[in-house]
Amino acid sequence: MYDIPVTLTSAPKPKPQDESKLGFGQIFTDHMFIMDYALGRGWFDARVVPYGPFTMDPACTVLHYAQEIFEGMKCYRRKDGGLQLFRPRDNFARMNRSAVRMGMPEIDIEEAMAGLTALLRADADWVPSAPGTSLYIRPTMIATDVMLGVHASHTYRFYIICSPSGAYYAKGLAPVGIYVEPELVRAVRGGVGFTKTGGNYAASILAGAIAEEKGYEQVLWLDGKENRYIEEVGSMNMFFKFKDALITPPLLGSILGGITRDSIIKLARSMGVNVEERRLTVQDVFDASESGDLEEAFGSGTAAVVSPVGRLCWKDREIEISGGKIGALTQKLYDTLTGIQYGEREDPFGWVVRLD
Ligand code: COI
Repeated sequence: MYDIPVTLTSAPKPKPQDESKLGFGQIFTDHMFIMDYALGRGWFDARVVPYGPFTMDPACTVLHYAQEIFEGMKCYRRKDGGLQLFRPRDNFARMNRSAVRMGMPEIDIEEAMAGLTALLRADADWVPSAPGTSLYIRPTMIATDVMLGVHASHTYRFYIICSPSGAYYAKGLAPVGIYVEPELVRAVRGGVGFTKTGGNYAASILAGAIAEEKGYEQVLWLDGKENRYIEEVGSMNMFFKFKDALITPPLLGSILGGITRDSIIKLARSMGVNVEERRLTVQDVFDASESGDLEEAFGSGTAAVVSPVGRLCWKDREIEISGGKIGALTQKLYDTLTGIQYGEREDPFGWVVRLD
């Protein structure tokens, strides 16, 4: 239905030789998908072209007022060599929710799927096959009007770039240490916390640097009003396994509705785990650690997959979770989720989209 013209590069780049050293988001493939938008015309010129820089006017809206949104998804190589995506339409649907909040145009999900499929056909050889690796896909939309007035741009560019990647955290599937940010806040209800807009991540950089200086990999954000309730970790949603329930903060507008979060909830429920989406204070977590009620904690995200949390620091107190090791439920959820994503396990929820 959508005919996407493809211009192949005449200068393909060498592919990474050692897939165990890919890191995250450092190398980019040979091609990218682009389409442009103009008010009154809609999206036009959907195309796959050689990967390369954009020429931008310094007065471009996105460079001043950050009217920008993005997504993160992955393409996996199965053992039989075939390729598959995980819930890609859910990512594009979430992008449209971000677009509405940021005053940007929605995309046609099937057109975006056609563009992504054409791009992945052109770059199929870039999808790595070593265990734990995948092709990370970054759909992005930017405002391109050349003007300094603060109002919605009339023109936009949507593009998709791809990066063969390994684990998001340098240590792979090993427990991470998390610092509960005591003062700075990421988002408040009514703001843009539920969107995937670059500004949310820019606002987290200072806190990330402070946490890193203190020896922690990530920042756990508390709610912006009372500074008590657990929200999210910027690159991951959070889950806490208490003796009788797996608890994750509810989607009240200030945290991202993760596709992986939703998948974990459904998988855990299908395993008979009692999952509760409810508000939880950081004090509750520290009390549960003391009473022995807290068994495991982990984060979830496309890049982070399922990431065990081994240490949590709040106001100069540190607790160790699961003895600093990967908890049994965390491991089971990781194995089941990645098993489905890589086509090694049955996909009872119909999440996988095969490309061949
Ligand atoms: C993802 O998990 O895809 C994300 O977008 C998180 C990221 C900022 C690395």
